[in-house]
Amino acid sequence: MADLHYAPPPVLIQDVIEDLDRVYTLLSDCAPYTPLGGWYAPGADPDAATSALWFQQDWVHADYRAPGSDLFLQCERYFDVTRDYYDAEVVLPHSVYVNMMAGLAECGPAHTDNPKFRGRERKNTPMWLLRTMLWSGLFTRWEIVQSTAIWWLNDVEEGGLRYWADGPYASPHRHVGQMANTALVGDNHRMFHQVERVGPFDQGTRRVTPRAELAPLAGDETVWAVHDRGEEVFRAPLADYRVSVLWKADVYESEAQRQDVADDQLSIDDVARIFDEDLAKRGEAVRFDLERLEDPSFAAEVQAVYPEARPIEAGRTIYDEVA
Ligand SMILES: [Fe+2]
Repeated sequence: MADLHYAPPPVLIQDVIEDLDRVYTLLSDCAPYTPLGGWYAPGADPDAATSALWFQQDWVHADYRAPGSDLFLQCERYFDVTRDYYDAEVVLPHSVYVNMMAGLAECGPAHTDNPKFRGRERKNTPMWLLRTMLWSGLFTRWEIVQSTAIWWLNDVEEGGLRYWADGPYASPHRHVGQMANTALVGDNHRMFHQVERVGPFDQGTRRVTPRAELAPLAGDETVWAVHDRGEEVFRAPLADYRVSVLWKADVYESEAQRQDVADDQLSIDDVARIFDEDLAKRGEAVRFDLERLEDPSFAAEVQAVYPEARPIEAGRTIYDEVA
């Protein structure tokens, strides 16, 4: 299995989906799409035009499967590449989601995806803590190894992916041009990556409120439009939107290994104890305080001890100007 923080380069595969009509049907059936929210823009005013034209939707998560989403969830080639990449036998896909973007004159954030640990994940642990757990290197034993595939529908104006396949301190690679029906499969939880600019660029980064919706026109599903506060604010052929479909799977070396570790769950008290032992060993003054998990100043103190890497040569992001 891969070492912490540095993953082998991802694997590029071509001609991934045989029947693209099934993708078009899925896209239309799941409309409308809403702007990406979440941790990059917490507390956004629902009536302020702060969101870029970056729309997202889950097609598969814990208790939901969009009809037809098996096309991606059960993609045999993702299983095959993942087994090779990790030298592992057990691949358990759990998530599929779609991004649709247009009119982004700056990049998305350079980032690694959020980690999962046995017993600790988004629903019971703050995001900052999960990330700090990863970067501390103290919780590797409980980490659930993830495989990610990113697949692209179209070739659009730019819309590339920058990715730090040789680690955060070496120049990034790019996948751009001839992206249609290709996918990159690898470890996006250790490899930094960044969505590059997406055209059209004539109005800079276009922004809408978090309540905007993207959907195909009634009667012509080859053209999609964004409506915001009751008005159409953007319209383009579907072929001009950067459409990517993400797939994620848990990975285990073998079924025996999966069963071996299944009961080895991390409680929040374990997290506090392990951090405290390490903080004491390092001679740090800060102690882990479970009462302060929601306190940004506590998060900052702990993160200062276990900082995330910052990849070199990252592009300017759409969040730089609104942050
Ligand atoms: Fe990502």
